[in-house]
Amino acid sequence: MRITPSILNADFTRLGDEIARVPSADAIHIDVMDNHFVPNLTIGLPVVESVRAMTAQMLDIHLMIEDPDRWAPSYAEAGAESVTFHMEAARAPVRLARTLRAAGARAGAALNPATSASVLTSVLGEIDTVLVMSVEPGFGAQPFLDLVVPKIAEIRSMISAADLDVWVQMDGGISLETIERCVEAGADTFVAGSAVFRAQDPDQMVRQLRDTAQAASAGARTVSACACGRRG
Ligand code: DX5
Ligand code: ZN
Repeated sequence: MRITPSILNADFTRLGDEIARVPSADAIHIDVMDNHFVPNLTIGLPVVESVRAMTAQMLDIHLMIEDPDRWAPSYAEAGAESVTFHMEAARAPVRLARTLRAAGARAGAALNPATSASVLTSVLGEIDTVLVMSVEPGFGAQPFLDLVVPKIAEIRSMISAADLDVWVQMDGGISLETIERCVEAGADTFVAGSAVFRAQDPDQMVRQLRDTAQAASAGARTVSACACGRRG
């Protein structure tokens, strides 16, 4: 179970200090928005390059931009360990995933809440992460959309059926209240923005979210082992 805090709700004037507040994070999730793919504008490559220079933590870039085919490779070349593009925006997702991997990054494919899991069929073997949006992308602190939970299970089955090692990352409205249902459906990686950066102790919240996810995962394994035992 991995927790990747999003800095979208951090204080951008003190980005270095804010990142230093979450040493237990598995990665720092950076939301790049272009005001075209989503109705919001955040930060781009120069800021990511500065962040790269100040931390050794894994950088997880979430590109909510048009034309990721053109822009995404620069983030991998800048040293980000993971670069995620949206399937709704990519023109040639297989080629893009291969380019990102060749540049040394994990390749991620993101789906908006209304995008069906079936768009992943041809790219699943080319990527390292599926990011499932559980809010409409563009802003932090929106309520979790429960309608995406069945899609998590669908994606996890596709990954298992193909015997692949692909992370299933949830993004949007993740908190101590919503993380368990995502784990039970098959997610293993969690972006949390407002839940972490609005907490009094952000690092403690990271650890609490991970503990809650791990407990839910252990519980889910016990339930499925019991169900198998009953069938047998
Ligand atoms: C939203 C971004 C998220 C956002 C999550 O479009 O992709 O990463 O920061 O924020 P919370 O956890 O507050 O929903
Ligand atoms: Zn994000």
